[in-house]
Amino acid sequence: MKIFLDTANLDEIRQGVSLGVVDGITTNPTLVAKEKRPFREHILEACAIVKDGVVNAEVVSTDVDGILGEAREIASWHPNIVVKIPMIPEGVRALSILSKEGIRVNVTLVFSATQALLVAKAGAYFVSPFLGRLDDISENGLILLRDILEIYRAYNFPTQVLAASLRHPVHVVEAAKMGAHIGTLPFKLFQQLFHHPLTDKGLQGFLGDWEKARDVLGVIRQPAAQKAAR
Ligand code: E4P
Repeated sequence: MKIFLDTANLDEIRQGVSLGVVDGITTNPTLVAKEKRPFREHILEACAIVKDGVVNAEVVSTDVDGILGEAREIASWHPNIVVKIPMIPEGVRALSILSKEGIRVNVTLVFSATQALLVAKAGAYFVSPFLGRLDDISENGLILLRDILEIYRAYNFPTQVLAASLRHPVHVVEAAKMGAHIGTLPFKLFQQLFHHPLTDKGLQGFLGDWEKARDVLGVIRQPAAQKAAR
């Protein structure tokens, strides 16, 4: 499963990317607005940080012409941008035109399997079911994810399923077990994936024991190139 960071914060993106396991980012108007910077400039900086990774940037128009205009403009900024379009009839209409032009579209705010079926038929590159927001209203977001994957597999739709609105590590594990193509994670959740108390305790023990016997153990020799890089 690819891992995207669900953030527009450049420091978070930098930190995440430096760990070597981030394949891209998702943004939305709320996340971008928090950064209080010109949209184009900000998205291009994000593209420079994620390098070969994907940057998802969202339109704010809700009529077909507006969506088409914004999507074409945003897509022209950088080859790694995928344009996010909301799951509304106008969005699906625009998607069916944009997909024929070769513009990669992520359909966002997907909350049902029927919506996901429509966007796959219209040629979406990504579909973004929002798991956490369904959980928030006492529905099970993971059931929606399973249904979408089952439908897409049944018809070999090439649309990649991007599990969004993930809130906790169980969402990540279950999405990965089901074979979601991508999971997008808030930075805090991404950090949580690294930690386990037994890892910390175990490492403390190993290092403490090594320290006690350091005199006899000596030092581990490092290759010259590695030493120079430090
Ligand atoms: C995905 O692209 C969305 O930005 C995101 O996952 C929404 O998550 P939220 O429900 O935590 O706002």
